[in-house]
Amino acid sequence: MKKKLVSGIGIAALIVALSACGGTNGSETSGATTEPEQIFSQRCASCHGGDLSGGYGPNLEKIGADKTKDEILSIIHNGQGAMAGGLIKGEQAEAVAEWLSTKK
Ligand code: HEC
Repeated sequence: MKKKLVSGIGIAALIVALSACGGTNGSETSGATTEPEQIFSQRCASCHGGDLSGGYGPNLEKIGADKTKDEILSIIHNGQGAMAGGLIKGEQAEAVAEWLSTKK
């Protein structure tokens, strides 16, 4: 599991870590945002559209009607089809999965 995650998450984590600029390590919102809409627009909107209407990736406007938070979280972690896993992780993945699961 680690092996596969290193390439994807490694890069994502690096970017997150860099943009978070040190500070407290992995706690609260003191650098890396856990604001789901902001995370989505930074990491996901290029494929799913800023308004969830889709683009390269599918429309997610009603994703919560189809998938639970856990299912979405698993897609975020593991990827699906042409979408790579590990684009976001930890609290950010949780926050985005939670937010998307309310889209019905
Ligand atoms: C490189 C483009 C790309 C990026 C970036 C991307 N996705 Fe995707 N996403 C896709 C594609 C393509 C699919 C369809 C995969 C398939 O089922 O074949 C998909 C599928 C999904 C699905 C499942 C949709 C369904 O109806 O089954 C979810 C949920 C999702 N993406 C969430 C996200 C989230 C959250 C992010 C940001 C962390 C993200 N995606 C970033 C391309 C992308």
